[in-house]
Amino acid sequence: MVNPEPDQSSETAAAQRPSERLYGARNLLIVAAGLFLIGVFAFDLPLIYAIAAMLVLVVLAALPQRSRAFQKRKEADRAAVPVWPDTSMKAVAEAVQQPCFILDVGGIVRYANQLAMDEFPATRPGDPLTHTFRRPEIGDALEDAAAGQSTSVEFREPGANASYLAHLSPVRSPGGGVGFVLVSFDDVSDRLAIARMRADFVANASHELRTPLASLTGFIETLLGPAKDDPKATDKFLNVMLEQAWRMRRLIDDLLSLSRAEMRAHNRPTGTVDLAAVLKNVVDAARPLAKEHGVVLTADALPEENVEVTGDHDELVQVVQNLVENAVRYGASGEKVELGLELRPNGRASAALYVQDYGPGIPTEHIPRLTERFYRVDVGASREMKGTGLGLAIVKHILTRHGGELEVESETGQGARFTVTLPLPAEK
Ligand SMILES: Nc1ncnc2c1ncn2[C@@H]1O[C@H](COP(=O)(O)OP(=O)(O)OP(=O)(O)O)[C@@H](O)[C@H]1O
Ligand SMILES: [Mg+2]
Repeated sequence: MVNPEPDQSSETAAAQRPSERLYGARNLLIVAAGLFLIGVFAFDLPLIYAIAAMLVLVVLAALPQRSRAFQKRKEADRAAVPVWPDTSMKAVAEAVQQPCFILDVGGIVRYANQLAMDEFPATRPGDPLTHTFRRPEIGDALEDAAAGQSTSVEFREPGANASYLAHLSPVRSPGGGVGFVLVSFDDVSDRLAIARMRADFVANASHELRTPLASLTGFIETLLGPAKDDPKATDKFLNVMLEQAWRMRRLIDDLLSLSRAEMRAHNRPTGTVDLAAVLKNVVDAARPLAKEHGVVLTADALPEENVEVTGDHDELVQVVQNLVENAVRYGASGEKVELGLELRPNGRASAALYVQDYGPGIPTEHIPRLTERFYRVDVGASREMKGTGLGLAIVKHILTRHGGELEVESETGQGARFTVTLPLPAEK
């Protein structure tokens, strides 16, 4: 932080000692004394008046001339505090590799560097910063910075789906007063997302891993103790242990997928993906599972032309795969699962991919909660199907990143239809 430099020329008068001030006014005092002597001798001015008047003059000359010095200082300060940042200040703001605003001490934006204009297009020079960042803590931090104190504020911007750490630093003018406030923004979304993810991972994973781990330890103890010399039991227990180990592995794989999807939630993908090709590939890959559950998979309702969306190929495969596996596993009683893809030209043009099963369906009250982590309509049934309860949470995060949505329609006893909509590129 820059320390204020006092204006020495205007401070001098107030800082002098009385003897120095008298010495400074000596010429004036000598002239006055001469005039009084002429008055006494030539014009009969009473000596006592002349002495009194002279004493008053001496006292006045010895007093510090505060008001004049103060006035001069104020004027100097005013002249030194510019209203608009100069070219070199703007160049500094442009050199900052973060969105950065220069505000005057009243909190009005006087300059925005290119990164700030890109990141916060609604905040224009001439507007108060608090118009777009309507948070009391930012107002408080601005006041502190205008009073000469550097501060930092962390806040979340729901519109941008991001979190920022704003640094506010006072910029002093040559007169010593604060002329501007420099505000720069650090995007801390990734850091916060990772911290949240880590906390979630520990809580959820430890909870979900405890069951298979308890079962593994139990079997190991049995194999070391009562079943030590029983080859038949050993074989049986080892198979169960292998199953539990796989369960733990699936859980960890799903947790990592979810974390990755969450971490990149505000990072739009840039690739081009043909949805019809994704759909066909997933259907082919899921045929063995469908056969195992006695389900016939069909994907007939496809448009003639390619349906290309902006996205990440592997993530979109993961989405469709999750939905198809759910339909096959939980809707097996319906014996068929249909997939289709259609274009929705109305409103914002989008592609809609659906997976329809004819199983037991999902009771209405469960539908809004399906995409929560570890949420399962029937925990036992899901575990039996080797489910971890993370599939639809991963689907939701991936779709958020793609600007897409998941719709779930179901009537109990009639099956369920999961529809994924993804925006089509603007020119389509
Ligand atoms: N097509 C469906 N029909 C009936 N219930 C469904 C269907 N799809 C999902 N569900 C219910 O929603 C729950 C959550 O599904 P999700 O895919 O998130 O987890 P999961 O399948 O249990 O585990 P994972 O997908 O991680 O292996 C399931 O446990 C199941 O109860
Ligand atoms: Mg699933």
